[in-house]
Amino acid sequence: MKMRLSPLLALATALTAAPVALAVEGGMQEAGRQLFSHHCTACHSLDSSENAFGPSLFGVVDRPAASVPRFAYSKAMETSGITWSEDNLRKWIADNEALVPGTRMRHVAISDPAEQDYLISFLRSLK
Ligand code: HEC
Repeated sequence: MKMRLSPLLALATALTAAPVALAVEGGMQEAGRQLFSHHCTACHSLDSSENAFGPSLFGVVDRPAASVPRFAYSKAMETSGITWSEDNLRKWIADNEALVPGTRMRHVAISDPAEQDYLISFLRSLK
C-alpha cells in the first residue's frame, strides 16, 4: 500500500504518545515480574486455581481480602474487611503486619514506592 508522506507523518505524530505509554507500562510490568519472583513466588501462585503457602494472587487487584476459595486464611485476614485497592496493596507490601495485625503472611517490607508501582503494575496485568 502506498501512502503519501505527510498523512503518514501526521499519523505517526498522533500515535507517538500511546506506544510510549505502552512501552513504559510494559517495562514496569517486567520489573514487577522480577520483583515478584524474588519476593513473592515462594508462597504465591499466579495460577487462578492453585493455592500454595499463600493464596493465588491471580486477579488480586480490587478483589476483597480473603476471597480465594479453598484457602485457609487467618482470622485476622477474614475479618479485615478490606479490598485490595492499589492503596491497600501498597500498605500491605510496605508493612503487612501494620495493615492486618495478626496476618499469617511473613513480613515483606518493600517500602520503595517505585518497587511498589512495579509490583502493582505486574499484579494488575494478571487477569
Ligand atoms: C512466606 C510466604 C509469603 C511470602 C514470601 C509472601 N506472601 Fe503474601 N501471603 C502469604 C500468606 C500465608 C497469606 C495469607 C495471610 C493470612 O491469611 O493472614 C498471604 C496473603 C497475601 C495477600 C492477600 C490475598 C487475599 O486473597 O486476600 C496478598 C495481596 C499478598 N499476600 C501479596 C504478597 C506479595 C505481593 C508478596 C511479595 C512482595 C507476598 N505476598 C509474599 C504468604 C506469603
